[in-house]
Amino acid sequence: MTTQNTYILGIESSCDDTSAAVICNGRVLSNIVANQEIHAKYGGVVPELASRAHQQHIVPVVQQSIEQAGITKEDLHAISFTRGPGLMGSLLVGTSFAKSLALGLDIPLIDVNHMQGHILAHFIKEENTKIPPFPFVCLTISGGHTQIVRVTDYFTFEVLGETIDDAVGEAFDKSAKILGLPYPGGPLVDKYAQLGNPKKFSFTKPKVGDLDFSFSGLKTGILYFIQRNLKENPKFIEENLYDICASIQHTIVEILIEKLKNTVKKTGIKHVAIAGGVSANSEIRKRLQLAQKHWGWTTYIPKFEYTTDNAAMIAITGYLKYKSKIYADISVKAQARLTVSE
Ligand code: KG4
Ligand code: ZN
Repeated sequence: MTTQNTYILGIESSCDDTSAAVICNGRVLSNIVANQEIHAKYGGVVPELASRAHQQHIVPVVQQSIEQAGITKEDLHAISFTRGPGLMGSLLVGTSFAKSLALGLDIPLIDVNHMQGHILAHFIKEENTKIPPFPFVCLTISGGHTQIVRVTDYFTFEVLGETIDDAVGEAFDKSAKILGLPYPGGPLVDKYAQLGNPKKFSFTKPKVGDLDFSFSGLKTGILYFIQRNLKENPKFIEENLYDICASIQHTIVEILIEKLKNTVKKTGIKHVAIAGGVSANSEIRKRLQLAQKHWGWTTYIPKFEYTTDNAAMIAITGYLKYKSKIYADISVKAQARLTVSE
């Protein structure tokens, strides 16, 4: 007997990346991401420009994902899309496109919570990648979120702790901006940090609850530190760029690891995953790998292409919902604000 192939299309348009992916029985056949370069010169995402760029990209990106998967749109079993959280103008493009395609093909429409998508990316079937057992804890770190979530099954998420102000991605991006690096600066801080001394400069770590985070004080601390040093030496940044980046990154990763240690202690759960754009960071990935050896945790680190925003994570969530017949009504609305448990 042959098993039937289930093809799910995923569409992601919550922020500044337009992405479409096709998944077959949990395996990724295509995952196309069109980045929007236009925002770099403004030093951050401009919502109106993001929405317009999504409108330009969505048709070719979806078409390419279907072609690259080697199927036709008539082969699809369901269309999944990001309902939120994100920028309303951006979400609306993906939501309306997904609705019309599902209606036109007369197949189920499946709404996906972007934050659940980041976490459920761990269930994409890949060679040499282990899948977390339930329950596990996940540190979701992105440009908009920083949370520790307990995951008890595919559809049950409980926030154990989160940031009370900035997200960790913002801490990376704002530090990069202070250093004069282009947006989004996180990946550049990571790149330069690899060439510097992480112990050269030290920054004060925030004092917040056991499993909560705060990054706004750190950002101000870094700003004052740079301003003070620039007064004495106008070339301070260029002469110390690698060491500054390494020291900032080290401080941030220390904070994240400390919170994960608290989480394991509090929950007794030793299956620890990371997700979201900042989980692409080389130091957090390295530290989590070491945690397996040092503390007996089993850690789950997503493949690089499933860390930053992508539609494969939306398609895998769509696939899991499809198998449980959890469909959306055509009247479903995009939601800019949405918690991970909604
Ligand atoms: O998940 P994501 O693509 O979008 C949101 O949902 O926010 O995350 C984007 C964030 C940005 O702040 C970006 O600077 C950060 O992830 N990021 C990194 C790295 N790669 C992306 N931060 C530190 N190191 C990296 N290698
Ligand atoms: Zn994201």
